[in-house]
Amino acid sequence: MEEPKVHQNSYYDPGVNRAKRVRALFDQIARRYDVINDIQSGGMHRLWKRRLILEAPIIPGSSALDVCCGTGDLSFALAAKGAEVTGLDFSQAMLDQARSRGDARMADTERKKPLFIEGDAMALPFMDDSFDVVTMAYGLRNLSHWQNGLRELHRVTRPGGRILILDFGKPPNQLWRSIYYSYLRLVVPVLGWSLVGDAEAYRYILTSLQHFPAQRGIESEMLKMGCRGLHTHLFMGGVMSLNMGTA
Ligand SMILES: C[S@@+](CC[C@H](N)C(=O)[O-])C[C@H]1O[C@@H](n2cnc3c(N)ncnc32)[C@H](O)[C@@H]1O
Repeated sequence: MEEPKVHQNSYYDPGVNRAKRVRALFDQIARRYDVINDIQSGGMHRLWKRRLILEAPIIPGSSALDVCCGTGDLSFALAAKGAEVTGLDFSQAMLDQARSRGDARMADTERKKPLFIEGDAMALPFMDDSFDVVTMAYGLRNLSHWQNGLRELHRVTRPGGRILILDFGKPPNQLWRSIYYSYLRLVVPVLGWSLVGDAEAYRYILTSLQHFPAQRGIESEMLKMGCRGLHTHLFMGGVMSLNMGTA
């Protein structure tokens, strides 16, 4: 399907500086990131993440990697299910939020706290076949080369392990897609402006989505990499998507 007009954005640099700009964006919004997530999705992101966690085949002691962990929502949920979790991100400010949330969230539980480390999703500092479950929420669309990022997720997942990827999707229905794009173009930047003083940082969501093949592209790349048991779940007619596959 043809994309409507593709919007430009100062945080979207398709060249060699892409990662630098994306890191600057997340460093800038880290303190208010969770609040804005709740407001812009009307709290729905919690349900989408919960669905991912329900689909993750975790048993106590499973090893899980949460790539682009941000402030740690998925990492904490995986840990609460009994996994030994590593959360990885390249924004120190987002990791600071994750670590301080971890102190509060995991205080009253026997479960092991996630380990949060700084690293690049495009060059994961782990051996092949290291994890039973690998997750990524709202990360892939931000990488300078999303296919390489996907290959990295696959490489570190043990054969038979599960990969789960949640991100903004592209609704197959043209009318619904243009309503949704209008929301991202007109409403979300106002939230960014009012809560972090940076409309451009939130306008970036639409630009990055328009340069990303979303659920169908992820699915066909996973198939090419040899993943089995592929399943794509669409939320709200494709506004969000959850791609899953077995390595
Ligand atoms: C939209 S946030 C998602 C955070 C979290 N997963 C969530 O769902 O709330 C995207 C995260 O990806 C991180 N990120 C983007 N590119 C990355 C890269 N190349 N390596 C590591 N982290 C990256 C950003 O720093 C940011 O924390």
